[in-house]
Amino acid sequence: MRVMVTGGAGYIGSQTVRQLVAAGHEVTVLDDMSTGHRGALPPGVELVEARVHDAAACAAALAGCEAVLHFAASIEAGESVTEPDRFWLNNVVGTLTLLRAMVDAGVDKLVFSSTAAVYGDPPANPIPEESPLAPTNPYGQTKLAAEMAIRDHAHAYGLSAIFLRYFNAAGADPSGEHGPDHHHKTHLITLCMEAALGRLPELRIFGTDYPTRDGTCIRDYIHVADLADAHLLALAALCDGKGFGVYNLGNGEGHTVREVVDHARAVTGVDFPAAEAGRREGDPEILIASSYVAMRELGWQPRRAEIDTILADAWRWHSAHPQGYGW
Ligand SMILES: NC(=O)c1ccc[n+]([C@@H]2O[C@H](COP(=O)([O-])OP(=O)(O)OC[C@H]3O[C@@H](n4cnc5c(N)ncnc54)[C@H](O)[C@@H]3O)[C@@H](O)[C@H]2O)c1
Repeated sequence: MRVMVTGGAGYIGSQTVRQLVAAGHEVTVLDDMSTGHRGALPPGVELVEARVHDAAACAAALAGCEAVLHFAASIEAGESVTEPDRFWLNNVVGTLTLLRAMVDAGVDKLVFSSTAAVYGDPPANPIPEESPLAPTNPYGQTKLAAEMAIRDHAHAYGLSAIFLRYFNAAGADPSGEHGPDHHHKTHLITLCMEAALGRLPELRIFGTDYPTRDGTCIRDYIHVADLADAHLLALAALCDGKGFGVYNLGNGEGHTVREVVDHARAVTGVDFPAAEAGRREGDPEILIASSYVAMRELGWQPRRAEIDTILADAWRWHSAHPQGYGW
């Protein structure tokens, strides 16, 4: 089947594109390359270099496609606080343009990249899908607004849609040839890799007085290849007639910042320095997924769940490609 992947040159999108191609699908990527990389795409994949806001480009890219995986978005929660207009425009207006193009083209299957940020600071962990939706920053608000727009379009125009709410995406392609390359690096594991490579003077730990086992925040790190697996399964479910679904994607296990730092030192063999800093505004103390629904309904099972596996894959990529894809 031919699938259009928006944001397919990005970190999670390109991993999914590579796994789609390996599974025999044909792929058209629509990406404005604002944070994407051509080198992340396998040979032979069609790349339409355009924004999702470009209705004509969306229409052209959708020709011959049966489904859409929608990754394209602005993703840094901190930037969303200072530049909310950019996030609303990209994540919500962009999604509306895409939905209109899908309806016009008669493409009726959509997998949407959502996020744990839609839950904000949840009342309990692990977080099930029916936990209250209460984002605490514009990034989470815009992803929730996009979910709501997709639901309404699904209802009105007969689209089938699956929302995949990822927790902390991490790791790299097990080959070591592909991985995260964000200009603005904020993800903990990437920052640990940068510190181990000596590209950061120290790793900063934000907040050491949380009510957790060692005072630092707890997060659920999920391997990018496991996220990609979930997209292939979601696509298959839509093709089998599934009308609508919402699934959390995480390992169901949390690691504190200090634990990740310790594991990263062991895996890289570098005792890189870490410094304690104050809390960052809006960081919930614990975010752990309950992913039983994805396991039960999609048959999803994370294959690279161990934190040392995630870190080893990340290290293979970062140590061999310290400049990423080469900015
Ligand atoms: N990285 C995470 O931990 C995480 C967690 C939860 C959810 N998500 C979601 O996963 C998706 C992908 O995240 P990522 O980490 O791969 O980010 P990324 O920045 O690596 O990828 C985003 C891709 O979308 C492209 N893009 C952005 N705006 C566009 C637009 N208007 N038109 C066309 N292309 C556009 C970028 O060039 C890039 O290739 C996002 O929707 C994000 O909200 C990510």
